[in-house]
Amino acid sequence: MDKPRITIAIDGFSSCGKSTMAKALARHIGYIYIDSGAMYRAVTLYCLDHGLIDGDTVNTTALLPLMNDIQIDFRPDARSGKTHTFLNGRDVEQEIRSMRVSDKVSPVSAIPFVRTAMVAAQQKMGERKGIVMDGRDIGTTVFPHAELKIFVTASAETRAQRRVDELRAKGVEVDFDEVVANINKRDHIDQTRKESPLRKADDAILLDNSHMTIEAQDKWLIDRYEETIKKLQY
Ligand code: DC
Repeated sequence: MDKPRITIAIDGFSSCGKSTMAKALARHIGYIYIDSGAMYRAVTLYCLDHGLIDGDTVNTTALLPLMNDIQIDFRPDARSGKTHTFLNGRDVEQEIRSMRVSDKVSPVSAIPFVRTAMVAAQQKMGERKGIVMDGRDIGTTVFPHAELKIFVTASAETRAQRRVDELRAKGVEVDFDEVVANINKRDHIDQTRKESPLRKADDAILLDNSHMTIEAQDKWLIDRYEETIKKLQY
């Protein structure tokens, strides 16, 4: 019997390895992987490039009529084969991971009309199922009927160290304390915003991966996927 194609939602705090596990699972089972955070990061970059952010305040009056001008898509990079984020036809994969963008992404992703536009685009991408999407509100708002939902967490220090290692591997030097502060600030804004705050869906499975290797985590996730498929088949 063919395996049913399902929707897999992976939510959780920033830098807890969601995208690493989501990507590995998608590759393993031949599903599409979408990094929804990259979309909010791309909108943030657009705002910065257009001078729409002052401190932590976004000029929403100026941004609203420009929303139709923001085209985000994912394409494989010709050299590495890895998926890159494109903003209006420009490869912004590197730029959207910078501290400049990380520092402003929470206020931008708290804007209701930005969320409405991103959620609609994400739902369209998932229309045919066979998708793994990671983010903050995937199991609660984007795909509330996803067959498999995971909520990932890890301590703030573990997450900061992972982000520092990731940036250093790319040759970007950052201060550990600055990264911890950025993570704590984003956690706070993400959990307390009015629109789709970060929270575990009631039917999501909780995973604390503070003390887990990447291999153990990948295996854990594949097991949850197989379990879900079995339940659907019988
Ligand atoms: O996963 P990330 O750290 O790249 O996400 C960047 C920011 O985007 C994060 O601070 C919260 C926001 N975000 C969101 O509000 N909803 C999502 N589905 C994904 C990300």
